[in-house]
Amino acid sequence: MKTLTTTEANGILDDMLRINRDLSGNDQRSEYKIQFRKVINLCLETEDRAKIKDKCGFTINRMTDMVLWPVLTNVVLYALGETLRPSEGYTLSAALNRLVSAWNNDAKCRPAVRGSGVSRGFHIAMLDGAAAQHALLNLRHQHSIGDLAHAAYLLGRVMFNAQTTKECKPGGELPQSTLDDVLHNALNDYRDKGTEPEAFLKACTMVSDWSAAPHHDIWAHVKLLLSRDDIDSDELNYDRADSDIQTLVTMVMTGQAKPEPEAAPVAPVADPEPLVEDDGYERFDEPEPLDPSLSPAVDALIKQASSGSITGVGAYVDKFRKVNTAYHEAIAEIKRTRDKLSSMPVAGHTGSAKIDGNTLTYEVVKRKASELFTDARGRKSKKLNFEVNTLVWRDDSGNVVRHPDCPEIDETYKFRMHHLIKYLTAKIFGQHVWLHGHTGTGKTSFVEQVEARLGFPMERLNLDSNMERADIVGAIDIVVENGAPKSQFTEGMLPKAMQQPVVFLLDEIDAGRPDMLFVLQRALENKGLTLTEDGGRLVKPHPLFMFAGTANSRGQGDEHGWYQGVRPMNLAFLNRFGAFIEIGYMDEDDEKQFLKDAYPDLNTKMADQLAAFAQMVRASFMNGELSQTVSPRNLHAMAQYYQHFAVFMSHEDAWVEVIETCVSDAAPADNQQRIVELSRTVFGGGL
Ligand SMILES: Nc1ncnc2c1ncn2[C@@H]1O[C@H](COP(=O)(O)OP(=O)(O)OP(=O)(O)O)[C@@H](O)[C@H]1O
Ligand SMILES: [Mg+2]
Repeated sequence: MKTLTTTEANGILDDMLRINRDLSGNDQRSEYKIQFRKVINLCLETEDRAKIKDKCGFTINRMTDMVLWPVLTNVVLYALGETLRPSEGYTLSAALNRLVSAWNNDAKCRPAVRGSGVSRGFHIAMLDGAAAQHALLNLRHQHSIGDLAHAAYLLGRVMFNAQTTKECKPGGELPQSTLDDVLHNALNDYRDKGTEPEAFLKACTMVSDWSAAPHHDIWAHVKLLLSRDDIDSDELNYDRADSDIQTLVTMVMTGQAKPEPEAAPVAPVADPEPLVEDDGYERFDEPEPLDPSLSPAVDALIKQASSGSITGVGAYVDKFRKVNTAYHEAIAEIKRTRDKLSSMPVAGHTGSAKIDGNTLTYEVVKRKASELFTDARGRKSKKLNFEVNTLVWRDDSGNVVRHPDCPEIDETYKFRMHHLIKYLTAKIFGQHVWLHGHTGTGKTSFVEQVEARLGFPMERLNLDSNMERADIVGAIDIVVENGAPKSQFTEGMLPKAMQQPVVFLLDEIDAGRPDMLFVLQRALENKGLTLTEDGGRLVKPHPLFMFAGTANSRGQGDEHGWYQGVRPMNLAFLNRFGAFIEIGYMDEDDEKQFLKDAYPDLNTKMADQLAAFAQMVRASFMNGELSQTVSPRNLHAMAQYYQHFAVFMSHEDAWVEVIETCVSDAAPADNQQRIVELSRTVFGGGL
């Protein structure tokens, strides 16, 4: 597959944005089709076309006539984005993969735009028409964080050189080599001692103010540029950089206003062309209308022939319509079920994993979710009446064992059915899941406790840690073989896990560094992870491998102002998650039950009071009165401390100690008084 050149991409983008909004829906769609075909002709090689035909049963040209217009727009957008915004994760292959994978798979289609079940290829993860058009406009009118950072770096260099000249030769000029030497030294200081070069920080602020893009996002990219040694290269020097970036630098320096995006072109509301269905099922057309002048006579005849029980031909037409609708719905249902079944890993599927020199084998065993999970009171739910994949692991001797990376079951964990339904369904369809909610609501432990019951091993990566790309993806090591040194690539935790039925937990994903997120963005695509360090080897994910991300936000940035380090994620990244689950705190009854199960020796009334206190603090936290909350994590500590203190103190002294140690001493000074008041209300009456 080829990538568009910048000139080709800009030309197609011009044409896309120029499509006349006053044309009829049909004509607009024809225009989108022309641009789509341009992309296909420029980028697809013979073997790419053959692959698509092989998977879908139609040539890509024929498919063009069978899809909705947003599909055409998505493909064009991703092809253009690959050239014009390479850092934002657009690739033509991603858009085509989605088209192909949704082609025969109703489960991956967006039902809302599937018309009467006959359109194909609109993948759940594709942008809808309006969003795709908006993204196209953004390609033209907004600068990517990558471009802004590039401009900030160049501007920083111009300012740095000006500063150096001012200090060393006021009013004169210094040779380029001298300027470069000074910059080299400053960058070495930055790498060794962390002294951030001021000119670059200032440039970042200017670019951020000008563009309204977050300073830390731009700075994160600039840092990557500052770590480069090849400061001679064209793109790192203002005079030789791309003219678009030079223009951007000039606009920032002169404070020129950003060009305003035009209003998005109005899209045709519905796909006006008839969609061709070719699935082997016969379709029946609406009955031809009768000549109105003859129908009274026909009705009279029918009424007479049926001794008055059938009033006329209209009754037959209505019946036919009903049967025909039911027939179409049944075909759609059959296809949905067939596709669902074909995309599920088969029961009995086996495999193996090497762990510390031993081989463990696994078998996929289907089990009813309702048998594995119960609610907070230990009750089964009919809503979980579907099968899920579980893994049964065996050692060399055939004994059933637990995989060492499979979390331990915590019997006191309280599941909520609506979370389970969403998570398990996403897992059935091989989707990655994003779980978000306030701190301590149980996001991380939810994933662990589900997987503990399904027998899946887990790998956990904390995105706000200082992990390096080499730890995650792998690195080239020097090994000695037969006395001679040899370089050898060692896989990092990600490619290793991706080849196994593993759940890869991305903890605090919305606080991840941009460079880490970029690596993950590639891996989140189902086509796999390319290891550039290992000669471009492609690591294909195991069909049962999945990512679960936990975050305090839904990916749009910190809505509350309570979570430092949380940043907005780029759209293409978020798009790769097929399910978003919001996890809230447990309700009071569930929490009481959880405390009683986890601490059977704790006084029952104390357990109830602890749960009530947690609810009160949270209510104040949610309405902004307190910036401190009480999570189940704190409740664990409070229950343990209380049991300990109550052995040698009065109940009154014990709860006061508990509140101080676990809650109020950790809270900001202006919260403490309110916390003490709340605790008196709850615990003040004694046991
Ligand atoms: N539903 C629950 N049932 C039982 N225990 C729970 C539940 N939810 C949370 N907990 C307990 O609360 C503690 C915190 O949970 P966890 O670490 O999963 O929260 P989190 O949402 O991931 O928090 P953070 O956002 O701070 O990472 C754990 O000890 C966990 O066992
Ligand atoms: Mg967590």
